[in-house]
Amino acid sequence: MKVTVVGAGAVGASCAEYIAIKNFAEEVVLIDIKEGYAEGKAMDLMQTASLNGFDTKITGTTNDYSKTAGSDVAVITSGIPRKPGMTREELIGINAGIVKSVATSLIEHSPNVILIVVSNPMDTMAYLTHKATGLPKNRIIGMGGALDSARFKYRLAEAIGCPSSDINGMVIGGHSDVGMVPLISKAVRNSIPVSKFLSEERMQQVVEDTKVGGATLTKLLGTSAWYAPGAAVSEMVKAIALDSKKMFPCSALLEGEYGLNDISMGVPCILGKGGIEKIVEIELSDAEKAKIQESAQGVRKTNGLLE
Ligand code: 2OP
Repeated sequence: MKVTVVGAGAVGASCAEYIAIKNFAEEVVLIDIKEGYAEGKAMDLMQTASLNGFDTKITGTTNDYSKTAGSDVAVITSGIPRKPGMTREELIGINAGIVKSVATSLIEHSPNVILIVVSNPMDTMAYLTHKATGLPKNRIIGMGGALDSARFKYRLAEAIGCPSSDINGMVIGGHSDVGMVPLISKAVRNSIPVSKFLSEERMQQVVEDTKVGGATLTKLLGTSAWYAPGAAVSEMVKAIALDSKKMFPCSALLEGEYGLNDISMGVPCILGKGGIEKIVEIELSDAEKAKIQESAQGVRKTNGLLE
């Protein structure tokens, strides 16, 4: 498998690193507009190959899309990240133009590529990619839910005092501070509902901490996070590479699922060699259904800024 990662900033470089370390791809191409930057990151990462024991070949290029030709998957991380106090939505003006031109250049050289959109505001950037490219909907995947779910599991593990590997749980809805819907009623510790271990109040705190997971890190770091976003993308790329049919919440173009149309938003998806092979419709409580509709309204409002 050949993977292109557009943007050699912190998120892009972390994606490339985790993909390489997991050793399932033959080649990763890092591409960036900043002269020599992707080449430098690629060389630095390649010098970890003998230390970390991977065979993936990582190369870098300054904006030469011909080097990305024949990619099976491309990850779009380009654009500006948020600064402390900014919402993801505030990035739309700059990032929309960048994402559109990047997607077009990628498809020109890799007509069969599956695109994973990471740039923020992510659900709107994924929607824009659908509109701008007209690719079949299974081949455009927004990355948000896999990251938000990892943050949810981290918060649950912290609250319970157990390893994150004990926890299973999922966040659906929009990838925004207000739009995320952590499905606390379905979260479990080794098949036991988390309500067995946590008070109602503590569970609500976990939900709130999860929703502002990205903002909390942006405040601490002065820019948005990169390790967990990179790791989340690498797991999604791996599921596609290995055709594993693993389920992740992804931002997918909805056509009636969850009562929504003409919107890209986080819902459980099965990932395999075809990209999004299936959108899974799960039973939600009335309160969760209402939250999903509210979240969709927020995403639509941001989509409206595209015109
Ligand atoms: C985050 O939540 C980058 O949107 C991403 O950290």
